Amino acid sequence: MTEDAGRDCCRRGPDPRVARCFDREWSDWHDDEGFPKIVDVSAALLDRLKDTTLVRPRVLEVGSGTGGVSVALLEMGARSVRGIDLSPSSVAVARRRAAAAGFEEKAVFEIAEGQSISDDAVDWVVLDRVLCCDARAGAMLDAAIGMARARIALTVPESRGWRGLLNRPMWAAESVWDMARGGCRGYVHDLRAIERRLAAAGFKPVRTGHRALWHIGVYDRA
Ligand SMILES: C[S@@+](CC[C@H](N)C(=O)[O-])C[C@H]1O[C@@H](n2cnc3c(N)ncnc32)[C@H](O)[C@@H]1O
Repeated sequence: MTEDAGRDCCRRGPDPRVARCFDREWSDWHDDEGFPKIVDVSAALLDRLKDTTLVRPRVLEVGSGTGGVSVALLEMGARSVRGIDLSPSSVAVARRRAAAAGFEEKAVFEIAEGQSISDDAVDWVVLDRVLCCDARAGAMLDAAIGMARARIALTVPESRGWRGLLNRPMWAAESVWDMARGGCRGYVHDLRAIERRLAAAGFKPVRTGHRALWHIGVYDRA
């Protein structure tokens, strides 16, 4: 499933560079500037989740970052949200964002790894720009499949067609650049393999599309 299955597939725990890299980004965040804005790709995913208002799902967001998507889903009517992330600084910002929006009771943000989640199932699992942070995307997806009663919603860099032709070298070059500066690497995982895995577990695409070079997909359990 990964481009470089040879080396990274055998790593057992999380890559410590991930937490370091996102901690560096958010540790000095001052809330008086407001909270970090939701990026276009995440906004496009939220656009495809407008039935939140009707369904009122319990949501798990893996790689919830600073909580923008999770809190937006609560504002759209989600019953509750649990966000998990490897980066303590991101989790701290997400908690403050939820509290500032009045959702302390409905939102829980924890430091945890997406591959190891196995608590009570939820209605929806959201994987927004997180599969691309980890070589072990298959394990993360399997954990999400195990947790999601009804829906998996995800965004990933597109690996197919002309977008894939652009994404692969761009992400490879960006990763080299970022890692040379102590950052972390990104992965363009094979989207066909991701969709095959979802289909094998009974998840069918209900709303898919693109935002620039990103694939946005909502998959419901048949
Ligand atoms: C690009 S950010 C996206 C955050 C959020 N979805 C948003 O749009 O604001 C990716 C996040 O996933 C987290 N992450 C990466 N790999 C993870 C893993 N294996 N388990 C949990 N979180 C992970 C990172 O710490 C980071 O906060």
